[in-house]
Amino acid sequence: MSSTLTDASPVHADPADGLAVLEQRKSRAEMFGIPLAVLAELTHRCPLQCPYCSNPVELERGGAELTTDEWKRVLSELAAIGVLQIHFSGGEPTARKDLVELVQHATDVGLYTNLITSAVLLTKDKLAALADAGLCHVQISFQGSEQGVADRVAGLKDAHAKKIEAAGWTRELGLPLTVNAVMHRQNLFQLADIIQMAVDLDADRLEVANVQYYGWALKNRPALMPTIEQIDETSRIVEEAEAQLKGILAIDYVVPDYYALRPKKCMGGWGRQFFNISPSGKILPCHAAETITGLAFESVRDHSIAWIWQNSEAFNRYRGTGWMPEPCRSCEYKEIDYGGCRCQAFALTGNAGNTDPACALSPVHEQIFKTAMAEAAGDNRRFIYRNFAGGTLEADPHGA
Ligand code: SF4
Ligand code: FES
Repeated sequence: MSSTLTDASPVHADPADGLAVLEQRKSRAEMFGIPLAVLAELTHRCPLQCPYCSNPVELERGGAELTTDEWKRVLSELAAIGVLQIHFSGGEPTARKDLVELVQHATDVGLYTNLITSAVLLTKDKLAALADAGLCHVQISFQGSEQGVADRVAGLKDAHAKKIEAAGWTRELGLPLTVNAVMHRQNLFQLADIIQMAVDLDADRLEVANVQYYGWALKNRPALMPTIEQIDETSRIVEEAEAQLKGILAIDYVVPDYYALRPKKCMGGWGRQFFNISPSGKILPCHAAETITGLAFESVRDHSIAWIWQNSEAFNRYRGTGWMPEPCRSCEYKEIDYGGCRCQAFALTGNAGNTDPACALSPVHEQIFKTAMAEAAGDNRRFIYRNFAGGTLEADPHGA
């Protein structure tokens, strides 16, 4: 499928391939500008096995990863086309031996750098070296408020204690800290303690992130889906904490999709404000885009990033509003939420071009909501842990 925007001139691959092309031509990409921030998944390798990991179920092997020189070229290109922030993520980005070198290069080309990490591989020396290389911000993921729940969700013994230690080093080194907590049915009861933990760790910000159900999380939905009572309680706790902690801790929280009437403006709209770089250099419109089968993604090994942003079929397929079916096509919110999330539409309906079923106007919203409610009320607690083997079912504590 080609162009989906009605008001843009056709775009063709151009041998001139590069920023000059982007700047000179009227194109869809030009209409949207270049993202200010980009997520670089340096590797899919990770010592944790979280059952809601946003990486694709088919993880990219270490041997396919971009080399240090390739990543440096990518970072230079990003700076040249106007990107301001780079978020180093994974997998676990500190599994890359060249992370300090990459942060240094990003600093040298003028990028603001954020490290999104599980923190379990960090040492104080490593963190100090990253700070010396110009690292601007650290975000550490937590799976619970104490090691029992947290280590079980992470699938790694002593992970929680290491995270607490690394958070302390982060603040000792004067780096700003965000605590990221992914919440679901089996850890929501710890939310108040997680908020207190973030305060105790002297974090600037807490992201109370709800699981997004595609990829690994979709496999684990029966074990993760919260109940409506939990969501009501969560909203109450967050509201109270926000009022009490004004000026101490900023809290980001959005009601999870399945319990909202309108979907989120996922990724700020497909191909508008964001892109992701996979470990092997594929440029993706979102971190979960590879869950959508039938979309082909271009690699930085074959094209410049500017060319990909402008010409990639995967980006252009769902850009703007021209691709939309009803009810989105004639909906007053279509330029507000851009039809919600393409990955969720694909995961739940098999067609990424459908309205996101999280929207109450989607013809399948009710049926999907009912299924989710039934899962939330069920007693399935066992996780399928994320790994390179396609997942491993958690041992049954009752030995059944
Ligand atoms: Fe958004 Fe489409 Fe739902 Fe309208 S119908 S609110 S555009 S997802
Ligand atoms: Fe991919 Fe929403 S997660 S578009």
